[in-house]
Amino acid sequence: MEKSYQKLITGNQIYSQTKIFQDPEFFKKLAEGQKPDYLWIGCSDSRVPANEITKTESGEIFVHRNIANLVVHTDTNLLSVLEYAVKFLGVKHIIVCGHYGCGGVKASMTNTYHGYVDNWLRNIKDVYQQNMVELDAITDVRERENRLTELNVIEQVRNLAKTNIVQQAWSERELHLHGWVYGLHDGLINDLSVIHNSQEDINEIYRFEIKSTVKPRKAIVAPKKTIVKLSNAVAKIKNVGIVKPTNGVIKHKNGVAKKLIPQKAVSQKNKK
Ligand code: CO
Repeated sequence: MEKSYQKLITGNQIYSQTKIFQDPEFFKKLAEGQKPDYLWIGCSDSRVPANEITKTESGEIFVHRNIANLVVHTDTNLLSVLEYAVKFLGVKHIIVCGHYGCGGVKASMTNTYHGYVDNWLRNIKDVYQQNMVELDAITDVRERENRLTELNVIEQVRNLAKTNIVQQAWSERELHLHGWVYGLHDGLINDLSVIHNSQEDINEIYRFEIKSTVKPRKAIVAPKKTIVKLSNAVAKIKNVGIVKPTNGVIKHKNGVAKKLIPQKAVSQKNKK
């Protein structure tokens, strides 16, 4: 059998040597960690490599690929990638990138039995059904495929916006969702301008009541000594006499002032 895989190993050695020649610190810097700005959700198609077609380097794009770039809300693989990218890597943009001439989109438009993948492609059939009037009106098959490719990307961006992961991020910071389609015939990306930036962009039924996980600032509670000092100063001004801390609660001699409560007393109170 021809050892065609050998060219990958040889290619890798050339890649490594070239990178080191261009920047001796290249791999050392990469090994320190990643902080990509983009999450790319693309098709598994071998002709649409995220880094190559965007002329980006290793470390710049966090990538998830599947057949026909779908965002399925029960796909634990995608959800894990999404949460990790949004929550821990802090990506600023999520791009769903489809491509014209997508085999998955084409297959979904037929009634041919393909096997297990038909379950996956069902998601695109649903997109077709939702846009049947527009799609059926397109007589040219290629044009209809292209339009379904675009509508599929738009739907997947919408699916992203419907996740509580994206909505959680929106409650705390900016996160932009984009829908693009790459042209195999010219190597160019078509930005569909389907930008979603907030919960306002999706139907109300899909909006979650998000409780921000940004920790509220702890109430600043002065140490007991300071409280006594302050209370005495106030008492002096008001001429109500010196105070003493009793069981963590400040009392004036006349028993009136009880406003300043030390931390110990507050936490005990809250436990009840
Ligand atoms: Co494809």
